[in-house]
Amino acid sequence: MIRFDEKNKVFLLDTENTSYGIAVVDDRYVGHLYYGKKLRDTDIRYLLREDEAPFTPAANKRETGSFLDCAHMEYPETGMGDYRESAVCIRSMSGHRASEIRYEGYEIIQGKPALEGLPATWAQDSQCGTLKIFCRDSLSGMKITLLYSVFEGLDALTRSVIIENEGTEPFYIEKVLSACLDMDDRDFEMMSLAGSWGRERRIQRRPLGYGRQNVASFRGESSHQEHPFLALVTPGTTQESGEVYAMNFVYSGNFIAQAEKSQFDSVRMTMGIHPEGFTWKLEPGERFTTPEVAMVYSAEGLGKMTRTYHDLYREHLIRSPYLHKKRPILINNWEATYFDFDEKKLLEIAKEASELGIEMLVMDDGWFGKRNLDDSSLGDWYVNEGKIKGGLRKLAENVKKLGMKFGIWIEPEMVSPDSELYRKHPDWAIQIPGRDITQSRAQYVLDFSRNEVVDGVYEMIAKVLRSADISYVKWDMNRQLATLGSYALPADRQGELSHRYMLGVYRMQERLITDFPELLLENCSGGGARFDAGMLYYSPQIWCSDDTDAIERLAIQEGTALVYPVASMGAHVSVCPNHTVGRNTPFETRGDVALLGTFGYELDITKLSVEEKAQVKIQVEKYHKYNDLIREGDYYRLASASENGSYDSWMIVEKSRRKALLFYVQTLARANTKSRFLRLAGLDPEKRYSVGEKEYFGSTLMQAGIRILPESGDFKSRLIEITEAGTP
Ligand code: DGJ
Repeated sequence: MIRFDEKNKVFLLDTENTSYGIAVVDDRYVGHLYYGKKLRDTDIRYLLREDEAPFTPAANKRETGSFLDCAHMEYPETGMGDYRESAVCIRSMSGHRASEIRYEGYEIIQGKPALEGLPATWAQDSQCGTLKIFCRDSLSGMKITLLYSVFEGLDALTRSVIIENEGTEPFYIEKVLSACLDMDDRDFEMMSLAGSWGRERRIQRRPLGYGRQNVASFRGESSHQEHPFLALVTPGTTQESGEVYAMNFVYSGNFIAQAEKSQFDSVRMTMGIHPEGFTWKLEPGERFTTPEVAMVYSAEGLGKMTRTYHDLYREHLIRSPYLHKKRPILINNWEATYFDFDEKKLLEIAKEASELGIEMLVMDDGWFGKRNLDDSSLGDWYVNEGKIKGGLRKLAENVKKLGMKFGIWIEPEMVSPDSELYRKHPDWAIQIPGRDITQSRAQYVLDFSRNEVVDGVYEMIAKVLRSADISYVKWDMNRQLATLGSYALPADRQGELSHRYMLGVYRMQERLITDFPELLLENCSGGGARFDAGMLYYSPQIWCSDDTDAIERLAIQEGTALVYPVASMGAHVSVCPNHTVGRNTPFETRGDVALLGTFGYELDITKLSVEEKAQVKIQVEKYHKYNDLIREGDYYRLASASENGSYDSWMIVEKSRRKALLFYVQTLARANTKSRFLRLAGLDPEKRYSVGEKEYFGSTLMQAGIRILPESGDFKSRLIEITEAGTP
């Protein structure tokens, strides 16, 4: 619910358990009052400290600068005296960089407006309200609309900003962040997700010191390295307790997420498009919309934050018709064959897989142009009939005859220097005239800021999809952007390229899922470099990492599931020794770990032993048995092997709390240990639950725990069902 207290000039944005307060100061400034556990009072202006030095400019004009540098603001300006991080910076035609963001009015509407060309959460009018606060910088004619959408049933709100040029001259936006949260420091610790290829989204936590601490990407994608998620937590925050302020960006390109602790022990938390290399020329009459930030506050630790994000994204972000469906169990030939395959090999894999209950064959990289290695043919989106004899239609038909669906891999944003496309359109590659284009994986990036490039590539890919019965597409992106330049942009608009590139990617994904509404789209980026909320708007699942080792995956999936619904994590069983780390793990453990995600296989199934094939059948059964629960249930993190070094555990609890599934893996076995009592979570304390042959109250299982006996051998996993007593 959104309220405006006219007398006190206070906006209160309430969700079920939280309040967010904004106040108009001196009739001019949009000040921040409060974010946290729900408040009952609306008269909370005292939180502005207006009666403390340096007072507000109306009472003490001579210290306006001091006021600006310490007041808590909703959307801080540049160049007028607030020396903390600003949210917006424009450069006028006269070359000056300053703006005064002054309150003009507001509007409260039901529902949530869409954001032009951008992925964003959505809601029915009854589920969400939106506050628009209008501000203006009178000298430039810049109008700023601050958008706050409040999800009443969930403790989440989203923020974005619209900049309009209502002046008579163009100006350049040099920075435009999407959200800012000013608060007094409470000895916050900063949590973020960091990694690398094969080590995506490891949880990182550190004390917040004075100055600016940020995580960022200017790689043209959300990236393997850092992630558009930031949380500030009170000291000692655990899964169940402590306060958490979190921001997650619904965007897949360059970002900055920052916390700045200032001289007066206040903290400014900001998130938005990274200003480095960014400028956007706004002509009179034009507008710019920022991507949105999804903000979650939890007074019940990290677990509650996680479940809020999961519900927000499942109910209000992912649109795919597959969201609430069991996805077909797939087998992907990448780790089975890499580039060395033909239709015969694929059909051998499909035949064996279908006999074991696998439901879809995915043909990965290498089926098009003359691609037999990673050094050619990106952009030549037609089948290599030398490799796939009879073409895609025939292959898809033969796969279908085995009772399976068929899917393909594509990498639309890229072009190989050795390709027909590049020879025909060398100017379609992102490049700086006169400089060598930086190659990565022997490829260039196509200039998706240009409509003709997006449309040209789309037509080729749509033709392929229309040529055969293709149910699934894996959209990959295997390098980051560099040598940034576009032939289509004038000199003073080159700084728009990275964001325009993202808009082009989003436009093509939107077109793809609109024209092929039955298509199951999985995003991917050299593993999990673009696993973000922006991509989830288009695809219900994203490949999590190229590291498929079950033990490495514990940390990767833990970090990913901190924010994103578990059923969106692309997770497969692969062979041992694992291709990335060379580790051997039990086949059963690999299956149990992959069950937390989309579940599938990435191996040459024709080479599995009889025992392993029998295991595949068991895993397929487990998937069918548990996927509804895993996909739709509440996720609880019980233990992290990354923290304790020896065991990992999570639980999924059905929303009705009648059923749950417990996963436990012992990473390294230890000598001479006793059993462990593992305390469960999320159950109904009053209900009785069956665990194996025994029955206990939920309270016993959560307070005293269940007993896990030590086992000999590393990497052994267990799945334990917990069911309300008397439930079939
Ligand atoms: C990177 C992906 O993450 C892999 O799964 C595979 O599709 C390769 N690209 C193919 O080039």
